[in-house]
Amino acid sequence: MDEGVIERTGYLYETVREVVSDVEWPLYAPLVDAINRLKRERNAIILAHNYMTPEIFHCVGDITGDSLKLAQVAADADEKVIVQAGVHFMAETAKILSPDKTVLIPDMKAGCSLAESITGEDVRAIRRACPEYPIVTYVNTAAEVKAESDICCTSSNAIAVVEEIAKQRGTDTVIMIPDQFLARNVASQTDIRILTWKGACEVHEQFTRAEIEQLRAEHPEAMIITHPECPPEVLHVSDFSGSTGAMAAFVAEQRPAKAILITECSMSDNVSAVNPGTQFIRPCNLCPHMKRITLEGIYEALRDMKHEVHVAPEVARRASQSLRAMLELTTAGRPPFFDILREEKSAEFVPV
Ligand code: 13P
Ligand code: SF4
Repeated sequence: MDEGVIERTGYLYETVREVVSDVEWPLYAPLVDAINRLKRERNAIILAHNYMTPEIFHCVGDITGDSLKLAQVAADADEKVIVQAGVHFMAETAKILSPDKTVLIPDMKAGCSLAESITGEDVRAIRRACPEYPIVTYVNTAAEVKAESDICCTSSNAIAVVEEIAKQRGTDTVIMIPDQFLARNVASQTDIRILTWKGACEVHEQFTRAEIEQLRAEHPEAMIITHPECPPEVLHVSDFSGSTGAMAAFVAEQRPAKAILITECSMSDNVSAVNPGTQFIRPCNLCPHMKRITLEGIYEALRDMKHEVHVAPEVARRASQSLRAMLELTTAGRPPFFDILREEKSAEFVPV
């Protein structure tokens, strides 16, 4: 490997050496070095989601975190160019919140099963069927879906958003789309009645209660930490549930000797790299969409200034209202985490 590359990237390898082998690193280091140089030349910032592989997350990501944090940073970024190391709805969110910036995504095909489960026309049909109830839309959706909604939410702030919009509108019922599991998990922790849609995350819907119970039996001392896109019966047998950011913060604060993160595979790599005192058991599922984002793709995106994300101005204007309504509410300092309430109150499907 080039001496200059070794010198400039050595400190980054120190962070990831437990999760990136010394056979892999010589393949990554030149790309890491070139990306970090191109970022300066292009006045670019890389927003890296927690599901990025560790060489992306720790070595080229400028801002890392969950969907909410990345949206907040996108809204305030000073750089001219945003590279979204995440899936397409995240890049669209960045563009909607920073319309004057160039937003690039390394692979336009990096989608999401939740975003694909619902269209703008579906939301208009929901609105016609239930005009009296506010519509809370998970950020894991296309811009045209956000544009038809009253407010967005992420897994960080879903309970607070549902309760606040219900209070503002003076209603006891809120429509929460498109993730049926997030909606059911929120419903189990609030008195608000929740109507939902049939969407699900293809990564998190696969986890089962039996799998968690078996892990508990095999590792009784481990903290089991779940993402709220998992089915409710999975959350009910875990120790803590929260957004990917909340999961990482929980490990950093609690410092468990052993932890099991029930979510996408790269989370454990990224969290373990900075929590050497915790041993991670890894029963994870890969997100095929997140895994489309690679170091090569990021390098080519910055080199060729591709693939630029555009959102039609009228759609962007309306989607921006839903996103900004969420961001204003989030900065009000409400609790971001899921406590595991073991009651069975659930959500119903919206009658469409
Ligand atoms: P958060 O990072 O907001 O928890 O979302 C997880 C996810 O699946 C994003 O695609
Ligand atoms: Fe979508 Fe699930 Fe992948 Fe997140 S993990 S991008 S929700 S499919």
